[in-house]
Amino acid sequence: MIGVLVSGEGTNLQALIDAGLPISCVASNKSGVAALDRAAAAGIESAVFDAADYPSREERDVALARWLQARGVELVVLAGYMHLLRPAFIDVYRGRIVNTHPAPLPAFPGATPVEDVIAAGATESAATVIGVDEGVDTGPVLASQPVPVLPGDTVETLRARTKAVEHQLLPRIVAELIAQRG
Ligand code: GRF
Repeated sequence: MIGVLVSGEGTNLQALIDAGLPISCVASNKSGVAALDRAAAAGIESAVFDAADYPSREERDVALARWLQARGVELVVLAGYMHLLRPAFIDVYRGRIVNTHPAPLPAFPGATPVEDVIAAGATESAATVIGVDEGVDTGPVLASQPVPVLPGDTVETLRARTKAVEHQLLPRIVAELIAQRG
């Protein structure tokens, strides 16, 4: 079973739902986000793990890992999840966490990759699926699909074009990972 971590709009979560993937639960680090509404509409259990409710990020992440384990999660998919997972979480799910990133890696890591691609004047970007380790976008690249940067592109237009590619790539790679695991 898959557990999906979200922070915001949840369009990548929606793509995973629409692909019919076996999602047992959804967790967000923020309350009131659209991704939680998408989970509810699909009848998927969800919960909020707000760091403010815990003494430390480590303890929040341990609680999150336990919650996922209790729901039979074998593969964790970060779909727009904007917090760095602490080692205590990574240790539980090492090699079984994937993330979608809206830019080429390792060239454009971090929280503002689309802005950075535009600022660099690159003519090509990418949708990238990576394995997750303790670093910021430092895990192995599992798949990358090019996205052209067009003349006159803004952060918004490039982000929208990249997201459309993510919505195809992420469910495909997640389905492959599940098939490999049997
Ligand atoms: C995606 O582009 C993801 O790569 C980035 O944030 C966006 C999340 O979008 N980290 P959504 O919440 O899935 O709509």
